[in-house]
Amino acid sequence: MIPGPTPVPQTVALAGAAPMINHRGPEFGELLAETTRGLQKILKTQNTVLTFPSAGTGAMEAAAANLTAPGERVLVGVAGEFGARFAEIYRASGADVVIVKAEPGTPVSPEAIRDALCKDSSITTVVVTHNETSTGVTMDLKGIRAAIDREDVLLVADAVSSAGAIDIETDAWGIDVLVTASQKALMCPPGLAFVTVSPRAWERAEKLKARSVYFSFVSARKFLEKPSPQTPYTPAVSLLFSLREAVRMILAEGLDAVFARHALLARATRAGVRALGLELLAADDCASNTVTAVKLPAGADGHKLLGTLRDRYDVILAGGMGELAGKIFRIGHVGAVGWSDVVVTLSALEMALSDLEVPTPGFGRAVAAAEQVLRG
Ligand SMILES: Cc1ncc(COP(=O)(O)O)c(C=O)c1O
Repeated sequence: MIPGPTPVPQTVALAGAAPMINHRGPEFGELLAETTRGLQKILKTQNTVLTFPSAGTGAMEAAAANLTAPGERVLVGVAGEFGARFAEIYRASGADVVIVKAEPGTPVSPEAIRDALCKDSSITTVVVTHNETSTGVTMDLKGIRAAIDREDVLLVADAVSSAGAIDIETDAWGIDVLVTASQKALMCPPGLAFVTVSPRAWERAEKLKARSVYFSFVSARKFLEKPSPQTPYTPAVSLLFSLREAVRMILAEGLDAVFARHALLARATRAGVRALGLELLAADDCASNTVTAVKLPAGADGHKLLGTLRDRYDVILAGGMGELAGKIFRIGHVGAVGWSDVVVTLSALEMALSDLEVPTPGFGRAVAAAEQVLRG
């Protein structure tokens, strides 16, 4: 129950074991066309969706390298480690980065973005993390776009830990570039990254000379638009086989059902954690549906807690990152997970806390609270 890589369903894993095909042949063209169409449905966009064999961070670098010239002013909303990483990437690509920072456990608000833009008319791009995995906070992307009342400003969003689990109306909300990856809500092994590119972003990409060959948007589009779609360089064919199966599963379950399942599991997790007397890092109005960050109870050793959960109860949770290391732990509930995963996790948490002599209200409380939520 970590926030990615997430469990890979057996059919998805087995799909990846199919024999290799010619990546310049028609069978590959059909494969890439189907995964691209499927991702467009999941991400609610008519925009181009580019697929790169890379970690999500590669797609973040791609956004910076294709759409920002050195010296350009870029506003980055930072609410945790992944926002900080995006800022670092833009800095490394030569952008002049302005940071709007939120306290750990809180989102970067539309108002904060609006204020920063009002103060600086030279900003060309706003970059935010839709779902800050390090703190378990989801931001109001729709509100953030509405706060950017300048048509020429691009909105780039990192949705690595939300796309496919939390509803994102890429086109309706006006998100120019959405970055995500295969190993979280998309239920695939790590290794594929995806970027949606709006017409406004294409205008930029076409004007600028991309500072990357491997990640060039223009050459990726050129190959994608061939009569039989391809990628410029050798694609991760096996991962695309897996992705096709995962996309079919998500669409068969239905997007609304997938989003509702994630919301329900998140509510059940939060209720269970609270019933144990533990405190959540994020308030309910911004708490993520894919990852819950829990403050470590006073006197508890996070390292020991995670070790006990892993070694005695076979439940793997994530620790805090950066300044939150040793202060929180994180429960992922994203991708191919269901109610039983949440119940087992909470039960293990009750036992592990008791093993470590951390005072709790008693066995069964967390599980009962989660069950109340799950039964509706
Ligand atoms: C919000 C967010 N952004 C970016 C990344 C980076 O993705 P990757 O590890 O695939 O580079 C992650 C990974 O956990 C993430 O959660």
